[in-house]
Amino acid sequence: MPPVFDTAPAAAAIPITFATKTTWDAVSAGLSAQARQFALANGFTAKPGKCLILPSPDGQIAQVIFGLDDDSSKTRDLFRAGSLPGLLPAGVYRFANAPHDARLAALAFALGSYRFSRYRKADVSDVRLVPPEGVDAADLTRTAEAAFLARDLINTPSNDMGPQELEAAARDLAAGFDTSFNCILGDELAKNFPLVHAVGMASNRAPRLIDFSWGDPAHPKVTLVGKGVCFDSGGLDLKPSSGMLLMKKDMGGAANVLALAQMVMDAGLKVRLRVLIPAVENAVAGNAFRPLDIFKSRKGLTVEIGNTDAEGRLILADTLALADEEKPELLVDLGTLTGAARVALGPDLPPFYTNDETLAADVARHAKQENDPLWRMPLWPAYDSWLDSKVANINNAPSGGFAGSITCALFLQRFVEAAKSWLHVDIYGWTPQAKPARPEGGECQAARAIYKLLSERYG
Ligand code: BES
Ligand code: MN
Ligand code: ZN
Repeated sequence: MPPVFDTAPAAAAIPITFATKTTWDAVSAGLSAQARQFALANGFTAKPGKCLILPSPDGQIAQVIFGLDDDSSKTRDLFRAGSLPGLLPAGVYRFANAPHDARLAALAFALGSYRFSRYRKADVSDVRLVPPEGVDAADLTRTAEAAFLARDLINTPSNDMGPQELEAAARDLAAGFDTSFNCILGDELAKNFPLVHAVGMASNRAPRLIDFSWGDPAHPKVTLVGKGVCFDSGGLDLKPSSGMLLMKKDMGGAANVLALAQMVMDAGLKVRLRVLIPAVENAVAGNAFRPLDIFKSRKGLTVEIGNTDAEGRLILADTLALADEEKPELLVDLGTLTGAARVALGPDLPPFYTNDETLAADVARHAKQENDPLWRMPLWPAYDSWLDSKVANINNAPSGGFAGSITCALFLQRFVEAAKSWLHVDIYGWTPQAKPARPEGGECQAARAIYKLLSERYG
């Protein structure tokens, strides 16, 4: 991707004037008589998302008018400007007046210029923006680049994004910073991470645990865990084809953890960062794990397999147990864990879980401020007994299916004891229908909000 932000002197850039239905009369009164007539002839009324390109007398582009939602609109979209890169011809642009939130509008502009171009040339022109004044352009660039990384990893189909390729992506990222990198496979994985091995062993693409660390060991320990299921067929509890279709995105948690780690390291936050990614393919074969198999987890709890399609919580359980052994100050896990999360809140509003009230308030605040929406759901204690098994310590898939995202969070909670605080986010990782700044496909979710939270605490 070419850089979106341009440092050309702002005077040379084409101005974009924002207008709403309410401000349109005033904005149009400020135009030349010819431009006003051109807008009228085009029937332009500054409807949200509508764009008018005004010519100069010699046929160049003189300026752009772009419609935003009214200030009072309950459905105001602070990412509206994200559709501009798709509407404008190549060139360098600047904001002539302030949109609702100049930083988010500029970020949206960058996020909206993303195209997935690995398999064919992207039909995208070079549309750039001079960062608005007073906005930290380096931070915007860092944020957009991380989002692009997450999207690229998720969009890459499973034939080119198996556990090994995911490891390579993590290695690539780690190599750009002063990190120590380790990856556990084979017998060592089977012995020390039985659940990761059980889920991944049916694939001829070997399961593994990716582990890298960065930063001053004296700084507070922040550990990120990402679900890296490179394809989720469901296993022997095979998904129907409609449910399997999008399952290349089942490493969305890993992709977002890598995006978050990239931002944290690039910004040089004062943390000791550890990134853990169990990378597996949930495949079908003669040696696949089966319904009602029982495995002894890393933590020692025996786990009965109620459903081989509830694999994400299994690989996270062993990984969270490892993370927890170091008693991190903050333990965060992200994963595309349940269809129930999407049923409850839809694809754009992932639920998050924590018992730390301060952390919950901070997550909600940053999610709102970053337009990276997250919604708290409860670790409802009364449902914990639903995880009971008649023959093992715990079952991975309570029958009945009520409150599926909550019971998944409660399952994971059994493997976290010593971490000072724990945050779990059940993301969707995908935009099913393009919206401004959010092209259809893999999506960066929760990483931007959590990055801002970490910047505030450890910047
Ligand atoms: N990766 C899926 C969850 C998922 C499905 C996320 C669709 C987003 C869209 C996960 O591994 C899964 O299959 N979960 C099951 C759990 C059930 C068997 C207890 C689910 O949600 O149906
Ligand atoms: Mn599954
Ligand atoms: Zn899954």
